[in-house]
Amino acid sequence: KRIFKKEPQIFLIGFMGAGKSSVAQQLKNFLPYEVLEMDQRIVEDSNMKIADIFEKYGEDYFRDLETNLVKTIESDYNNGKQYVVSCGGGVVVREDNTQIMKRCGKVILLTASPETIYERVKDNKSRPILNGNMNVEYIEKLMQKRKDLYESVADVVIPTDGKDTKTIAEEIVMNI
Ligand code: S3P
Repeated sequence: KRIFKKEPQIFLIGFMGAGKSSVAQQLKNFLPYEVLEMDQRIVEDSNMKIADIFEKYGEDYFRDLETNLVKTIESDYNNGKQYVVSCGGGVVVREDNTQIMKRCGKVILLTASPETIYERVKDNKSRPILNGNMNVEYIEKLMQKRKDLYESVADVVIPTDGKDTKTIAEEIVMNI
């Protein structure tokens, strides 16, 4: 267990469709923190959809926006504000981000099988990373590629297959 000078906030990480957003909403019933949806916040601040940001400016630019937001979350934390942060699935690809997250919060990794992920994301066209690659094989490949990154930053790992969001939220609360 890591020691924090004050109560750590919560970062939910994991692959697209792992359930970060819905679990974050459930955590409102257990923790007195505001929920911050990274993707939603980026959409609001830039006034553009995620897919449009990728298309117009590219992935690196999107990752810069993500890093800026992670920095804002840390400075908010240092100013007394705590969040349950529902991260974008790719937040772990930048080491800057993971270092900041470890400094100011507990990192909870939600996992699910590629088949489960596929079922959850297949009808949603808003994820540019899966454009043209909406199949179990690709999901499995990308998941493998990111596995070590996710696992090395996580304080707690919660498998989610077959569980409802309330059960997952309860498991998180018991493990932080
Ligand atoms: C991404 C995941 C998305 C979003 C963007 C990139 C990724 O978030 O940030 O499309 O690289 O895994 P969700 O995990 O909420 O779908």
